[in-house]
Amino acid sequence: MSHADKESQMNADGQNGVGATQTTTATTAVAADMAEVNTRIEELRQQIREAEHAYFVLDNPLLSDAQFDALVRELRSLEEAYPELITPDSPTQRVSGEASSIFSKFRHPTPMLSLANVRTPDELRAWQQRAQRQLPHATFDYVCEPKIDGLSMNLIYEHGRLIYGITRGDGAIGEDVTPNVRTIKDIPHQLHASEQYPVPDRIEIRGEIYMLRENFEALNARLEEEATKAGTTPRLFANARNSAAGSLRQKDPQVTASRPLSFLAYQIGLIEGAAEPESQEDVLRHLQAWGFPVSPLARHVQTLEEAQAYCDERQAQRFDVPYDIDGAVIKINARWQQQELGVVARDPRWAIAYKFAPVETNTKLLDIVITVGRTGALIPNARLQPVQLGGITVSNATLFNFDEVARKDLRIGDTVVVQRHGDVIPGIVKAIPELRDGTEQPWTPPTECPVCHAPVLREDGVVAYCTNAQCPAQRLERVRHFVSKGAMDIRGLGSEIVARLIDAGLVHDVADIYSLTEEQLLALPGFQKKSASNLLTSIANSKRRPFPAVLFALGIRYVGEKAAEIIAEGFRSMEAVLAATPDQIAALQGIGPTVAESLHQWGEQQTNRDLIARLVAAGLQLSLPDGPATTVSPENAPFAGQTFLLTGSLAELTRGQAEQAIVALGGKIAPSVTKSLSHLIVGEAAGSKLEKAEKLNVPIHDEAWLVERLREHNAMPAERKRL
Ligand code: IVH
Repeated sequence: MSHADKESQMNADGQNGVGATQTTTATTAVAADMAEVNTRIEELRQQIREAEHAYFVLDNPLLSDAQFDALVRELRSLEEAYPELITPDSPTQRVSGEASSIFSKFRHPTPMLSLANVRTPDELRAWQQRAQRQLPHATFDYVCEPKIDGLSMNLIYEHGRLIYGITRGDGAIGEDVTPNVRTIKDIPHQLHASEQYPVPDRIEIRGEIYMLRENFEALNARLEEEATKAGTTPRLFANARNSAAGSLRQKDPQVTASRPLSFLAYQIGLIEGAAEPESQEDVLRHLQAWGFPVSPLARHVQTLEEAQAYCDERQAQRFDVPYDIDGAVIKINARWQQQELGVVARDPRWAIAYKFAPVETNTKLLDIVITVGRTGALIPNARLQPVQLGGITVSNATLFNFDEVARKDLRIGDTVVVQRHGDVIPGIVKAIPELRDGTEQPWTPPTECPVCHAPVLREDGVVAYCTNAQCPAQRLERVRHFVSKGAMDIRGLGSEIVARLIDAGLVHDVADIYSLTEEQLLALPGFQKKSASNLLTSIANSKRRPFPAVLFALGIRYVGEKAAEIIAEGFRSMEAVLAATPDQIAALQGIGPTVAESLHQWGEQQTNRDLIARLVAAGLQLSLPDGPATTVSPENAPFAGQTFLLTGSLAELTRGQAEQAIVALGGKIAPSVTKSLSHLIVGEAAGSKLEKAEKLNVPIHDEAWLVERLREHNAMPAERKRL
């Protein structure tokens, strides 16, 4: 039932003059309704909080802006209809819908104003005429500036020292992000004083925090790489503005410090203990003298025609600037005129934003293709008929997730509007249904994985996953991750070769890498004796990689490089990790419940425990040097409860390899022959132990028996004894 339906039903119940029993029924119905609404409200709040946390704290947007807005809208309308259900901690109760409660609120000493917009020369002229009517005898000159698409910042300096950095918020109250602001190189901690430009006692400096397009692209590339390594779906910033905002609003200033943010100053708020600059031109001179970057594109002009020409020029050269600008700002220059003109609502009458039309064009949606990541996340991507847009050729657009496709009702063959706000990856704004000719094909999200045909699971409601851990696409991604640089760092095992090994049936999982032989490699196209032996050497070398790298290499969802390090340090061995409860894992500093739960679930699966056993058998480091050696959990291991003793010299394995493999499968090495010994393994020239075992009726086996058992459990070391 929609919200509107509920309301009309409630009104009808109230107006019908119902009798006692009916009233009870109606009240019960309303109460049931309320309970249902409350559940929905709580669900929405939870989703919004998670999305905000993902966006602002983890920097990994879970939802598109449109999806997020839809949740907030639904929550608002429910709360409007049922105000008694509003709680103080609801996301709607925060100032101006600004997310995140991790920063404290701060009232700006003087309000931060915004700007009215115009979009056409006529509207610009109308703005000027209004000002002229108010000051009929004045002659205006103007300062024209680019309108930088970032986030506005209020910097408060006392006696030249930076004291606070406050976000705009709702203009009256912002958030205190001072420690983060201090990490931005363009922002001086101390104002530069000079004779002509002395430092005021107290001053508010206003400007824009933004990110250069190339830095934004590099950041997204880095986030993508990190997400791939951590086994999470890369969730990237849609544009430089979001990326600047997300980078500034970090809990940990060190994260902000690692983000390349820039700053341009353009305005002064309060000023105490120094003369106020006489014009906007003078403001910019002061800002520059105090040590702030100001826009080199700012221009002082005498007439409105020149201001209009400036706007046209900015629009034409929009993509030639290394950061995103979404318009021009025209400011009446003289301070006294500004003061006379004053402010309406929040907008000064003396300044106006001339907004650019968004760059958009139409093209055809040729196809929607799905990519499958290592963790099985299915991401839809739009293939577009290539089209020129703002200086680049656009042929792809990300569609985020299945819901986004459904929401926009995109059909294959549709004419779609693609838009670019300076974004690198353009967005599909909408389809144009009027241009359909009936041949368009609706797109149904796959219910099975396009690669392995396993069923798809919509785990968190939005992102869809392939449920088959053996999916070739996932398998390929897992092996690629395993051999990658921060992980096992196996040189010479590039994606191409991994794919070939998988196709040839030589590698099903990462442990198989350690049983590859020279003959097998030589049988593959492209391998020579030298390249095969080089590869085997780097595979063998990878066994020296420390435990944290191995843990990371396993590609467990959410267990990134950093988390793997913390977990390895905390538990010292894989055995201890596998024995830990989620709470014990989450108790580690820096590890959250999501990571802990994911790791625990991974360890619960027998195939994964078997995999660990085989990696141990292959000789990988699954503990830190002083940690207990890793075996598989005793109750499930194939050799659990059995004791072994080796005697004589073995042919195929070294004593160490054999013992390690036995231990890995849960067996124990006995110190001597006793009646309770489960197996004596005899090699060449066995002596007294054999005699004793025969006497005590202990089962006796040759090496071949052991090798066969180890093979059976995939625990045969890859590197055999060197003869
Ligand atoms: S002046 C009266 N100058 O645009 C002072 N704002 O829509 C108002 N902006 O919140 C600001 N570049 O974040 C001004 N050169 C510029 C600007 C600029 C970008 C932003 C600023 C402001 C918003 C108003």
